[in-house]
Amino acid sequence: MAKKKLIHFTENLSFPHLFQPRYAELQPSFRFQGKWGSDFFRNDHPITLELGCGKGEYTVGLARQFPTRNFIGIDVKGARLWRGCKTVEEDHLLNVAFIRSLADHIEYLFQPGEVGEIWITFPEPQPGKERKRLTAPVFLNRYHRILQPNGLVHLKTDDQDLFRYTKEILKEHPVELLLETEDLYHEYKHEPAAKIQTFYESIWLEREKKIAYLRFRFINT
Ligand SMILES: C[S@@+](CC[C@H](N)C(=O)[O-])C[C@H]1O[C@@H](n2cnc3c(N)ncnc32)[C@H](O)[C@@H]1O
Repeated sequence: MAKKKLIHFTENLSFPHLFQPRYAELQPSFRFQGKWGSDFFRNDHPITLELGCGKGEYTVGLARQFPTRNFIGIDVKGARLWRGCKTVEEDHLLNVAFIRSLADHIEYLFQPGEVGEIWITFPEPQPGKERKRLTAPVFLNRYHRILQPNGLVHLKTDDQDLFRYTKEILKEHPVELLLETEDLYHEYKHEPAAKIQTFYESIWLEREKKIAYLRFRFINT
């Protein structure tokens, strides 16, 4: 392993706002499941998740913008999460946590109704591996269960195929599509979603790629 990566992995162990649960610690549920507000953030502010947060720029950007909400970034890659954790430490942000985990495990991490909003930012399109897409039905059902009634889901992507796939999948779910655009920065540049860019998003924007965005909520029957 590269020396820098090793240093980052070691430093990751010291961040009080980074959780790296082993699978056994998720069984039957992670210790903060249902208690993120009371036991970690020590407030009852709503919780927003970013799935596949990478280096965490978006989570940190939202946390700065909305100090009375709590933000949790989730990613499997510890080396990327180190960046977000370091910024949180340097900027003394108290409304951010990161979890090194597969998004597949969110129901061990959060109780039904514990989450107010979910952002899925530039997920890997996973061609030919539908079940791994973060907008596949298996994931949408998990989001529905952990979200509060009327909780929002946002998707930002540069991948038009994934975008179209997601819109098709949403037709089979009890959702209300609140906004959709294949070109956020030209059609809706005043939307809050256009105010902060993720690491990958900045790269795609520099290359003048269109960024697609959609927002929906589940309809609870
Ligand atoms: C293309 S990167 C985007 C990172 C960041 N959102 C951005 O826009 O800069 C996709 C990220 O999703 C993470 N990822 C992919 N599948 C995941 C899963 N099932 N659970 C958690 N993270 C996942 C990867 O580790 C990677 O960091």
